[in-house]
Amino acid sequence: MTFTRKIKIAPSILSADFANFGAECRAIEAEGADWVHVDVMDGHFVPNITFGPATCAAIRPHIKGVMDVHLMIAPVDSYIDAFAGAGADVISAHLEAGPHIHRTLQAIRGAGAKAGLAINPGTPIEAVEYLLDMVDLVCVMTVNPGFGGQKFIHSQIDKVARLRAMIGDRPIHIEIDGGVTPETAPLVAAAGADVLVAGSAVFKGGSVENPSPYGANIAAIRAAAEAAL
Ligand code: DX5
Ligand code: ZN
Repeated sequence: MTFTRKIKIAPSILSADFANFGAECRAIEAEGADWVHVDVMDGHFVPNITFGPATCAAIRPHIKGVMDVHLMIAPVDSYIDAFAGAGADVISAHLEAGPHIHRTLQAIRGAGAKAGLAINPGTPIEAVEYLLDMVDLVCVMTVNPGFGGQKFIHSQIDKVARLRAMIGDRPIHIEIDGGVTPETAPLVAAAGADVLVAGSAVFKGGSVENPSPYGANIAAIRAAAEAAL
């Protein structure tokens, strides 16, 4: 993974056909996805359950580029090696998932993955200040984690701008997750985000049999974001 602040679109397979993850991953990459965003939910940290490391390992061979694993689980530490072993390039843990996020981030890098720090909408940006030297990505949640298709929370735009200023020259990605559409993408891109996760806005209207809407949706989000730069 070479660092660049160019806009990257990361479709979330939370909105894909769960019986067809391999084909869906191949389809979104063929249609222009930069990263593949993989949402892991435990029914405890968030009120929804998806899948675990075995599914991540199974889809890994179907992803040519970056596999970006977003862990919405608590506890986290005991599962890091399993997700790294499944081939995750980026592993993001939530700041709110336990008392020792500093140790968790060390463990993610220690396992050979890039370390991501995800923060919920209610978490102040100051909370990441003493963690910035140990992260490769900060994921600003623009919905409450747990479900796709929720409404973008506009108060987070200011948080992104403040995070961008805190990061300065450091090679840290700013990822936005939740409610990203061609309407909201320019707002966060202008504030400094470079990785845009989108689930429903990418997969709407398409399928494995008819993937061209994925391409049109990805292109529309990218064009709207780049026009704001
Ligand atoms: C929410 C997940 C997101 C979700 C985004 O908890 O982390 O990645 O899939 O879905 P949309 O783009 O539909 O808001
Ligand atoms: Zn996510």
